Amino acid sequence: MTFALPAACVLLGVLLCGPPAAAQSRGELLYTTHCVACHTTEVHWRDRRLATDWDSLQAQVARWQSIGFLAWSDDDIAAVTKYLNESYYGFKPRSGAPMVLTPAAKTCEGSRC
Ligand code: HEC
Repeated sequence: MTFALPAACVLLGVLLCGPPAAAQSRGELLYTTHCVACHTTEVHWRDRRLATDWDSLQAQVARWQSIGFLAWSDDDIAAVTKYLNESYYGFKPRSGAPMVLTPAAKTCEGSRC
C-alpha cells in the first residue's frame, strides 16, 4: 500500500495540474459550452463542408448561435469564428475583421514626442 501512494500522487498531480482553465480563449469556452453537444470535430473536417472562407464560417457561427437562441454579440461570434478558424479551418481572416483592435488613442502627435 505504501508503494502505491507515490504513484497515486503523481497521477493526481497530472490530473490537477493540467492546462489551466484560463488558457482557454473566450471563443473556445463559448464553443465548448454551447456547441459541441451535437457535433464533434468531424463536422468541421467533412468533404462537403459549408464553411469555405472566413465569411461563410462566420455566417455558420451566427446561424448556429441564433438556432440555439444564444443571443451572442458580434464579439462573441467573432471570437468563436476565430477559435474555429485557428483550430480547424485556417482561412485568411477578412481584412478589418472585428477581432483587430485599434490603439485607443495616440499618446503624442506631431514631432514633439
Ligand atoms: C442541434 C445540434 C447542433 C448544435 C447545438 C450546433 N450545431 Fe453546428 N452543426 C450541426 C449539424 C448537424 C451541422 C451539419 C449540417 C448543417 O450544416 O446544416 C453543423 C454544422 C456547423 C458548421 C458548419 C461546418 C462546415 O464547415 O460545414 C459550423 C461552423 C457550426 N455547425 C458551428 C456551430 C456553432 C458555433 C454552434 C454553437 C453556437 C453549433 N454549431 C451548435 C449541429 C449542431
